[in-house]
Amino acid sequence: MRQTVSNCGSLHKVCTLIVFLGFIHLLCILIYYVKTLDIKFATTRFQNIQATVQTGAEWTATSAPYREPDPPVTNRSALSSAVDNSGKLDVCPDESPLLVGPLRVEFSEPLSLDTVRANNPKLLEGGHYKPKDCIALQKVAIIIPFRHRDEHLKFWLHYLHPILQRQQLDYGVYIINQDGEQIFNRAKLMNIGYVEALKEYNYECFVFSDVDLIPMDDRNIYKCYDQPRHLSVSMDKFGYKLPYKQYFGGVSALSKNQYLKINGFPNNYWGWGGEDDDIYNRINYRRMLISRPDSEVGKCRMIRHSRDEKNDANPQRFNRIAHTRETMNRDGINSLVYQVLKVEKDKLYTKITVDVGKPT
Ligand code: BGC
Repeated sequence: MRQTVSNCGSLHKVCTLIVFLGFIHLLCILIYYVKTLDIKFATTRFQNIQATVQTGAEWTATSAPYREPDPPVTNRSALSSAVDNSGKLDVCPDESPLLVGPLRVEFSEPLSLDTVRANNPKLLEGGHYKPKDCIALQKVAIIIPFRHRDEHLKFWLHYLHPILQRQQLDYGVYIINQDGEQIFNRAKLMNIGYVEALKEYNYECFVFSDVDLIPMDDRNIYKCYDQPRHLSVSMDKFGYKLPYKQYFGGVSALSKNQYLKINGFPNNYWGWGGEDDDIYNRINYRRMLISRPDSEVGKCRMIRHSRDEKNDANPQRFNRIAHTRETMNRDGINSLVYQVLKVEKDKLYTKITVDVGKPT
């Protein structure tokens, strides 16, 4: 009996010891955890202080304007590595204070590309620009379908670069040059421009412009709106009015969303005409509306020229336009096939020469 009582006493002591050791163990873990937290916190604070010192910036995390994430780095572009002080800037005003309104546009003076380059010292390589004093409201890729129109391109660059800079856009100019002498395909070149521009920068708006159309008022902003935008609404060639209500040719602007909603543009309009009507149909079938500037602001001049070789009127266009609803889901950005042959970076533009194939 006494033996049993003594065994119980020893067991009690052992149990108390185990509980005590367990408590000490827990305490050690707790102290270690608190210490680690402290070190982590101090390190973060140190890094923050260092960052502030390096950039010379005040800590303005709560008051800094919204900034898009940086664009993907590509081997072709120096856009993202260009001087970027946008973290310290405000967003540009809704209406640029630099606009001047109506402009005199004429094509009689001879012009050299060197003069145009000299007149635009703020351009970055590839025909890219972003305002220095504020963050542009939109990143805009200007896409120009092209072949053998160097004379027109000179005038386009001469007039448009200063206008686009006054409009305070973050923009890049892409000349999509159809290689060879096969029949021309304007809409496919514009699709290619969309894809190639996006490889370089996270553009959110795409302006598609003929090379021979110059706006006569810088309030006609080359940006995107909440509906697809038609900009060349009042052309001298058509007596400063729309040739017909559904006309969507010349210069137009679509946001990335709007463009994807209509599966981009058709790839199978070879030769002149119809592709812009097909685009209009696509927009209409996707229940979007066309937004336009008024006819004063939307005035523009076309450089007179004769019809290009290998760009005869497309006799199939009426039949194709009649079937946009059925064809638009399978013919567009989802079926685009082409080959890039050359990429040239000039101060005034990025020129991409492509093989668009031929009609099947
Ligand atoms: C063509 C369009 C062209 C318009 C104005 C229409 O008949 O189908 O492509 O833009 O005429 O010239």
